Amino acid sequence: MRLTTNNQGREVFWDPYKSKLAAALNKKVNIDLKKEDSVLYLGASTGTTVFHVSKRCKEVFAVEIAPRVMRELVFLAEEEKNIVPILEDANHPERYKDVFCNWLFQDVAQKNQVEIFLKNFRQFKPRIGLLVIKARNVNSIKEPEEVFKQCEEELKKELRILDKKSLDPYQKDHLIFVVSK
Ligand SMILES: C[S@@+](CC[C@H](N)C(=O)[O-])C[C@H]1O[C@@H](n2cnc3c(N)ncnc32)[C@H](O)[C@@H]1O
Repeated sequence: MRLTTNNQGREVFWDPYKSKLAAALNKKVNIDLKKEDSVLYLGASTGTTVFHVSKRCKEVFAVEIAPRVMRELVFLAEEEKNIVPILEDANHPERYKDVFCNWLFQDVAQKNQVEIFLKNFRQFKPRIGLLVIKARNVNSIKEPEEVFKQCEEELKKELRILDKKSLDPYQKDHLIFVVSK
């Protein structure tokens, strides 16, 4: 069980059934996030996981494409001063190229998840990158294991795979890759 203390001193549960990063921690993935790290977080949504990350690093640049959920993320950023919300499409890292990050995390529900991740990795050259793959978004017909294998092959062309783990039973048909250059 993981708890994060908010600014009012209240402990907030980091739920592995709601956060893929919490699921990864429960599955003993070494996420190697340091207090001095600057994080680029792709697929921030309302900020459920961004909040927990922000309490464990220096700053979080939180990219989200949907204006509707961005509203809540902006409210969160008013409370947590080290969160920078960015309303953008992660397919275009050149649009937020002034961001500095050395830790990259991606959780976007898109067919081209690996392509988006590689574009951002090339642009920002982080020390470490974590990519969550939701098999059904990449290909809803193929078996998840087949999809994960295909994603790994694509990643291996440019990056070193440090770890990979299924997020079952917390997140069905999801896998996380931890990579470096
Ligand atoms: C599964 S949710 C992320 C949940 C979040 N990581 C959390 O743990 O609270 C995926 C998010 O990615 C966003 N998204 C999808 N495509 C995107 C893109 N191209 N650029 C930025 N965000 C994107 C969606 O709008 C959605 O909010």
